[in-house]
Amino acid sequence: MTSVIEPDLSSPDGTDGESTDPWHRSPAVDDRVEALLSGMTPAEKIELVTGDINVDYGFYKAPLARLGIPALTMCDGPSGVRINKRSVNGGRATALPAPIALAATWDPVLAARYGDVLGAEAFATGHNVFLGPAVDIARVPVGGRTFESFGEDPLLQARLAAPVIRGIQSHPVQATIKHYAVNNQEHHRATVDAEVDERTLREIYLPPFEAAVRNGDVAAVMGAFNKVNGDFACENRLLLTDLLRRQFGFRGWVMSDYGANHSTAESANAGLDQEQPGAGHWGQQLRQALDDGRVSPATLDEMVRRILRPTVGLGLLEHPVEIGPLPEDHSRVSREIAEAGIVLLKNDGGLLPLAGDTVRSIAVIGPDADEAVFGGGSGLVNPVHTVSPLDGIRRRAAAGTIVEYLPGTDPLSAGALLPGPDPVPSSILTPEGGDGSELGLHAEYWTNTGFTGDPHLVRTDLQVDLNLGFFNFPGFNAASAKLPEIPTELTGQMSARWTGTLTAPADGDYELSLTWLGTARLYVDDQLLIGLAASAQDIAAPTASPTSLYPYGQLVLQGAASEPETVTATVRLLADRPRPIRIEYAADSPEQGFLTGAQIRFGWRPPNGVRSPSVTAAAALAARCDTAVVVVRAYESEHADRPGLHLPNGQDELVRAVGEANPRTVVVLTTGGPVDMTNWHDRPAALLQAWYAGQEQGSAIAAVVFGDVNPSGKLPLTFPRSLAESPIRTAEQYPGVDGTVRYTEGILVGYRGYDVLQLDPLYPFGHGLSYTAFAYDDLTISSPDPSDGTVAVSFVVRNTGERTGTEVAQLYLGTLPGEVPTPPRQLAGFAQVTLDPGQSQRVTLSVARRSMSYWHVAAGGWVTPPGPVAIEVGTSSRDIRLVTTIVVPATGQ
Ligand code: BGC
Repeated sequence: MTSVIEPDLSSPDGTDGESTDPWHRSPAVDDRVEALLSGMTPAEKIELVTGDINVDYGFYKAPLARLGIPALTMCDGPSGVRINKRSVNGGRATALPAPIALAATWDPVLAARYGDVLGAEAFATGHNVFLGPAVDIARVPVGGRTFESFGEDPLLQARLAAPVIRGIQSHPVQATIKHYAVNNQEHHRATVDAEVDERTLREIYLPPFEAAVRNGDVAAVMGAFNKVNGDFACENRLLLTDLLRRQFGFRGWVMSDYGANHSTAESANAGLDQEQPGAGHWGQQLRQALDDGRVSPATLDEMVRRILRPTVGLGLLEHPVEIGPLPEDHSRVSREIAEAGIVLLKNDGGLLPLAGDTVRSIAVIGPDADEAVFGGGSGLVNPVHTVSPLDGIRRRAAAGTIVEYLPGTDPLSAGALLPGPDPVPSSILTPEGGDGSELGLHAEYWTNTGFTGDPHLVRTDLQVDLNLGFFNFPGFNAASAKLPEIPTELTGQMSARWTGTLTAPADGDYELSLTWLGTARLYVDDQLLIGLAASAQDIAAPTASPTSLYPYGQLVLQGAASEPETVTATVRLLADRPRPIRIEYAADSPEQGFLTGAQIRFGWRPPNGVRSPSVTAAAALAARCDTAVVVVRAYESEHADRPGLHLPNGQDELVRAVGEANPRTVVVLTTGGPVDMTNWHDRPAALLQAWYAGQEQGSAIAAVVFGDVNPSGKLPLTFPRSLAESPIRTAEQYPGVDGTVRYTEGILVGYRGYDVLQLDPLYPFGHGLSYTAFAYDDLTISSPDPSDGTVAVSFVVRNTGERTGTEVAQLYLGTLPGEVPTPPRQLAGFAQVTLDPGQSQRVTLSVARRSMSYWHVAAGGWVTPPGPVAIEVGTSSRDIRLVTTIVVPATGQ
């Protein structure tokens, strides 16, 4: 027995928070747009819809001065303004915490402030279009852009995206929701076809975009690179016209992501409105299509209207951008959001907060703990200033407390995105020609692939762990600032040679490896260990040739031809015997160039129990101090997913060693997503997830560590125990087979999947501890409101501990009645409540009809099946404190 079919069942995020007078419902705006349009020539219309390459902006559209239409000056996002024009504020803007950190606050009020900072700074730095926020659902645990969006749940994404957009657009700046749609992996993002069923699209991937339109009044949408069900997103009529325009009511414009438009008439007729960054398939070709009748004048007019509507409606014609100083208090906003987003994952024995007066010495450890770290790619912001975790702890520690720092492992670069064994640490390498005290290898780089002529660059490299191409674009590289830059002449094809010695920390059998794309050879003692002894030009891909085996051991090949190969050989090394090392490498495969550049790593696997001297030193420091704080990081960026969930560059071993040396160890994770902690999770007493916490990250981490701030962040995505223990389990699902990635898990994304598959995550969705404790009580529910079907759920939260704290109370709905399978638990609401010790407060949440519904494909609408549904209230998706049942009435009752 069912049920109404409603195509447009309330708002997707369960709120009705629409503006009273949005640009897209204003007759005055429409009139003005018509007046402008009627004065435009066909050439001007084509001009407006075709982007212009301009080095000063993310994307750019030159002004139509005759008509008073300003330039569209665009900047990336999403976690601050990425200023391409170095003359503006030295290219610097406030680096907010990454959106995933904002998501961990679960706080729409902070989201609005976040958006306000973005809009104000975009405008003050000469931009009137902001390329963000992003609402790509975190589907795969290794996703490279997880840090740029709001996690794995559509309701949480929707509730945060809308206020961010409104904050941006409270200035004369258009927000752009991206990447529409189903852009959930970076692996082969430009070509991959995401095969996803309609119900999943409707329930999981589209609601945040829908909310951006309906509740955020977003001006612009960025079409994704990937295909969706066979058609590129930028020429996907279903997505761009049927859903976005006809069903969600979007009246703004869609721009292509960078080069994501693949056609002329197809994309224009499907609903794309502006090609970016320049004329690839539009411009003259669109003119031709117009002349041939493949694109109608009416279609072109509609494209122009859509661009002009928010441009006019948000006041861009009256308010030309004004470059000026950045508002003073933005750094404080950045810090507040960073503090609110830190998640206390574990706190055995109440190690945290550290009592300033009893801790006399603190060892701060971590490869980049002495700098602020950020996610890379187009989302990388050049910060106004930074506070590193080390700075933050030093400043906050009590007078007289000794704070000592050791990195333990080498600084991180985009090399961390390569697969294969970790790179050989610099603490066992000595460069050729050095004075014996220097670490690393002597490096020579050529701009040709044949090692010919004078090298372009000569220096000492700590490690051989290069990943250039896209990651070496100026302003995109999130490598440690301690590493010298690689000149852009070496971004694409090149060659390099590294020479020096390797001294083992102990006698034993070591695996040495090369991971590379192109041509590579490793010599030990002048003998070829890995690679073929032919000239660079002759070698396309290495094979298990006998020459490679001599004289050391077994050769192991892994990987596909166009992915980097890893070859491993076992070598017996003695502690007192330095061994000459030479690595020759050419980035010379045909696919290497502008995007995929040099990829080479010299890796190792030491015998069990053998540690590098730098790890041993860090552990010794930790043992000498009262407490150790280990700050570990990942390298994440668009253009690649992480190769796995382990911490890169020897950090797993570092955490384990420090945790063994001092049980009073706190681990701070500065990553955008989950980490496999199998190797060390039992060691440190306390664990904080700090994300990429923006320019004030050190202050925020220190505030939580010392208890000035009581942590209240909750995970916006599940942390699995390992990659194998997530709902994404087949190669079809990820990374895809033959260019197609099949979303066979359907709606069972994130915690929905962990619940149905009965997987036991390390930390579940919604998890986050506090220095105080909360009790839940007295759950009541109203009957559904006859006007819109919403249900009011009310309960009491009490602070039962000894500190003031904030709880994010979460409300989940259980399986819906009827035959159609639905997940056992879905987020339907949440609220913050800040309570003093002993204080309690009643919280009332409204559950939208949409949350009690599923998408009925055959009927093309939302169905609310009648019958009993569990209402669960708790402190995480796996820590439910109160349960009751609501009986959803049949229609009309
Ligand atoms: C990214 C977009 C970004 C654009 C412009 C693309 O590579 O996917 O998110 O806005 O570049 O920088």
